[in-house]
Amino acid sequence: MIIKTKKDIPASEITDPLIFKERRKIIKAMLAAMVAGMGISPTLANSRNPVWASLPKGDFSADLLTPTPAELIKNYTNYYEFAFNKQDSTKLAQNLRTDPWSVEISGEVEKPGIYYLEDILRQQTLQEHIYRFRCVEAWSMVVPWVGFSLGDLLKTVKPLSTARFVKFTSVLQPEIMPRQHNNAMLEWPYVEGLRIDEAMHPLTIMAVGMYGDTLPKQNGAPLRLVVPWKYGFKSIKAIVKIELLKRPPVTSWSQFAPNEYGFYSNVNPSVAHPRWSQSSERQLGSGFFTSRRQTELFNGYGEQVASLYQDMDLRHFF
Ligand code: MTE
Repeated sequence: MIIKTKKDIPASEITDPLIFKERRKIIKAMLAAMVAGMGISPTLANSRNPVWASLPKGDFSADLLTPTPAELIKNYTNYYEFAFNKQDSTKLAQNLRTDPWSVEISGEVEKPGIYYLEDILRQQTLQEHIYRFRCVEAWSMVVPWVGFSLGDLLKTVKPLSTARFVKFTSVLQPEIMPRQHNNAMLEWPYVEGLRIDEAMHPLTIMAVGMYGDTLPKQNGAPLRLVVPWKYGFKSIKAIVKIELLKRPPVTSWSQFAPNEYGFYSNVNPSVAHPRWSQSSERQLGSGFFTSRRQTELFNGYGEQVASLYQDMDLRHFF
């Protein structure tokens, strides 16, 4: 058995520190297996909004999204623990300590524990997911993430029937993250949340890489959430804690400005942000912003996720 709670692990079984250095190798090996056609399960493919791009490309290629150039994605980041400026956050994030990395999973689960990322990875199937990513600031990109299903991870710890929400917490490293000395705007650590059915949805992934490589630090290494039908701030970076809860967690942005950044924050072109329209978006492309596109409800993933919100009024989707 690979996953155990820390107190259950005899000293002799504790992962050798050298293993942590092997994360990149594990990811690379899994990607190589994917390319070779092993472990591929393109179950998420569909004709309109393919979320899976098989390597090599298969029948779904006609509808594949074209990824935004990697250099743009890596140099235009939102990481407020480091800076408000997208270029400064990119530079400063290089100081983040990501080895070793473990994730505490607790709350309404049968098997709470502290799990080493390497052990989590060995249990999961990595896939490439090419997703549209829409920031609440009205810019967007297309990212080829490498990740695994959050639902599959949660199943390994056996959620109880009382688990109705999931809370995610980012790392606290104030000695490295300069803005964590200032709680004036957001309170630290950065916290996000999902309803349990959103968390279990097959489009919801934990990303550990992009562009066929490990995740750059500025983009959320070593482990981040990606929820493609919600505004980007829900996709929390550098996750160290996942809690299954009975009640909705208080999240960083909704605590700061509840009328601007609600708990759901599903992409919705017809609900304007109080200070700007959300009807269209600037696409990050060569020359930075090349073109605008009309923003789609649920960021274009309505076919897959609209059923989650059948009983809700669309106007309350911010
Ligand atoms: N996660 C943490 N911990 N801190 C942040 O500041 N910014 C969010 C989200 N996750 C943020 C975060 C916002 S506002 C966006 S738009 C996306 O990350 C940006 O992801 P990217 O920088 O990889 O493009």
